[in-house]
Amino acid sequence: MDAFSIHGGKRLTGSISVDGSKNASLPLLAASLLTNETVTFDCVPELSDIENMGKLLAELGCDVSRDDKTVTVTTVDESKSHARYDIVRTMRASVCVLGPLLARRGEVRVSMPGGCAFGDRPIDLHLRGLEALGAKIELDGGNIIAKADRLRGATIFLGGPFGSTVLGTANIMSAATLAEGRTIIESAACEPEITDLAILLNAMGAKISGAGTPRITIDGVEELGSAKHTVMPDRIVAGTWAIAAGMTNGDVTIERFPLDHLLAVTDVLSTVGVHVQQTDSSQDPRSCTVQVISDRHLKPVMFTTQPFPGFPTDLQAQTMALLCLSRGNSIITEKIYPERFMHVPELSRMGAKLVRQGATVIVQGVDHLVGAPVMASDLRASASLVLAGLAAEGETTVSRVYHLDRGYASMEKTLASLGADITRITDDAIVDGLPIVETVTPKKLIQTNS
Ligand code: EPU
Repeated sequence: MDAFSIHGGKRLTGSISVDGSKNASLPLLAASLLTNETVTFDCVPELSDIENMGKLLAELGCDVSRDDKTVTVTTVDESKSHARYDIVRTMRASVCVLGPLLARRGEVRVSMPGGCAFGDRPIDLHLRGLEALGAKIELDGGNIIAKADRLRGATIFLGGPFGSTVLGTANIMSAATLAEGRTIIESAACEPEITDLAILLNAMGAKISGAGTPRITIDGVEELGSAKHTVMPDRIVAGTWAIAAGMTNGDVTIERFPLDHLLAVTDVLSTVGVHVQQTDSSQDPRSCTVQVISDRHLKPVMFTTQPFPGFPTDLQAQTMALLCLSRGNSIITEKIYPERFMHVPELSRMGAKLVRQGATVIVQGVDHLVGAPVMASDLRASASLVLAGLAAEGETTVSRVYHLDRGYASMEKTLASLGADITRITDDAIVDGLPIVETVTPKKLIQTNS
């Protein structure tokens, strides 16, 4: 397993551009199962999750090809409808083939995703929505089996104890495009990734209105056809780069920055003293150029993660790393995944002062963080450790970089292009589970991975 070695303390400066969104790409790619015509996607990020989705689509009878950032999907065999455990367990988002497969092939078998590193992640709302559309659902040998001759439009309430569900909304909206009659989703997720999916589906011939609001209306059609779609910029990656700039007292220009999708974040950042200013004359606030600079002394803040347009849970960990360096006490409450705090003990190993009480963490700002060997068990927690490493004194080794490869394309190259001292230690350079940071000589050897 690869690791990152980071020597902190370098100020980030320069210019970078934001890739297409992972969380938009996954349900978008799955939506190509709704037609046997070709669907083409531009700006698809090069990530392991996207590669896994490509493999899953290939297993489900699609021809999938990539040319740089363009991915083309054509369904050539509609006889298969099983998303196997081997793939679902590596990528929970495989569940987004559920709606498209059921709607198009009348049957789907998807291995039930288990919990994940940050707690229980049920899919009851997905299943409730599909049942409301007329599907018969059973659980057999760890698989969800859903069947329906033709789905029928219905009014569906998708609110759950922690708000709506993003992939659940994607599944029901996709399935309803081919249902008979009208479907209304109440308490739909309003995330921009849902709007992006609706744009693609409408380009394929669907009739969807209201995406991006809590009420989405879908009038079913007989068939969908080919389309070409440019994936929206990744708001979480964009936010991560802005925080990296703020943490290193940097001056970074970010192109394709989805300012409009990050208002809750830029609001918190500006209270802290990290300023994100649009610098181009783009009329599209979902993709513009910004400059990020920060005050010398950062201030504390209080925020709570919420469904869009609130503060995204996927930037909670990175923002916590930033607040470790503020002057005073910050309070962070996690309302989407109350257990999503695996970064807390790891940041503490770097000198952060953090007190967790249930779904809330109190961050007592410190003068500086100190480099340490750290490891985390999910994507965003790992990102927070990289950010902490960029600002820390000395060397930080972040293990299990495969988590980062799921959501940040060559993260180390992007950060190095801004002046960070970060290198990937590849698997071959790891002996007995211990990453070798420098030339392999018996005396000058090993950074431990405790
Ligand atoms: N929930 C239910 N029942 C359901 C579905 C969800 O109770 O049937 C609960 C969840 O347990 C959670 C809340 O509803 O408390 C929201 O979960 P949601 O279904 O919206 O999450 P998701 O669609 O599975 C996507 C992103 C996550 C992101 C969440 C929340 C993708 C591939 N994943 O997951 O992204 O955290 O929305 O915004 O789009 C990440 O990128 O690191 C990541 C985890």
